[in-house]
Amino acid sequence: MSRSVRVRVPAKLNLSLRVGPRRADGFHPLATVYQAVSLFDVVEVATRAVGRGIELRVAGRESAGVPGDSGNLAWQAAEAAAAAFGREPDVAITIDKQIPAAGGMAGGSADAAAVLRACAALWGEDEGIVLTEVAGRIGSDVPFALLGGTALGTGRGEVVVPAMTRGTFHWVLALSDRQLATPRVYRAFDGLSGEVAPPEADRAVLRAVRSGDAAALGAALHNDLQAPALSLLPSLGPLLDLGPEHGALGQIVSGSGPTCAFLVEGDEEALELAVALSASGLCRAVRRAEGPVPGATVLAA
Ligand code: C5P
Repeated sequence: MSRSVRVRVPAKLNLSLRVGPRRADGFHPLATVYQAVSLFDVVEVATRAVGRGIELRVAGRESAGVPGDSGNLAWQAAEAAAAAFGREPDVAITIDKQIPAAGGMAGGSADAAAVLRACAALWGEDEGIVLTEVAGRIGSDVPFALLGGTALGTGRGEVVVPAMTRGTFHWVLALSDRQLATPRVYRAFDGLSGEVAPPEADRAVLRAVRSGDAAALGAALHNDLQAPALSLLPSLGPLLDLGPEHGALGQIVSGSGPTCAFLVEGDEEALELAVALSASGLCRAVRRAEGPVPGATVLAA
């Protein structure tokens, strides 16, 4: 009989993303403050008969264009988990996709993290440090999707340490009808930036999340990939401008974009801004989310 495990996994925002000069391996050193927010994919992993290999199905409102083969990080995660635990990857993976693809919210990395955690649970393996190591090899954002909460990310983003935070922050997310491939945005960063200094952790952002001060966080939000993302997709400029016009405490392109995140005081402010964003015609959809939330979590059967 087939057994299965379901894992809920959050999207991420980068409250601060500081990028250093391109490394010899093509990646960029980062000092980033991640926050996991309440926009979730749900990933189910079920056992298959020996020798059947991997099967992948993607459904849900953000599933359009998401690959159902080995091009999907979730598929690669099942292979990597099997190799790490000395098993065969005979699993059926089903993804309920709610995190926009190629949107700067690490949706693909989230699904990979969910598969890693689900495989360990399904096979009764002790996650230990194995999963975090495997996660970092699959993608820079995968270790954070396992951890969740708010965290400082260094290296190329794969080295994560939890950050103290107080309270809950309220976000309004504007989803784009366009996608931005992360490597393209980093290339634009290389083209736009002159001399680039090594990145340093953003003390103002860490202080604001530690004290639960939304106004201070709004003023401190920072993203070195914002200018390159705007150079590729100039329509993000007028979209971001709607934040201050409608009471947002701060706004930022999420990661490599094109999703834009607006920090607001509470429910009433979120509603006003969500209406304005929807009416503007400058984005495809608007979602609300809160952070921080836990990382990839096994759901009760
Ligand atoms: O690790 P991930 O799969 O998210 O990286 C996707 C691409 O983004 C990399 O191939 C690289 O071009 C770029 N990247 C980078 N520096 C990072 C993370 C990603 O240049 N720290």
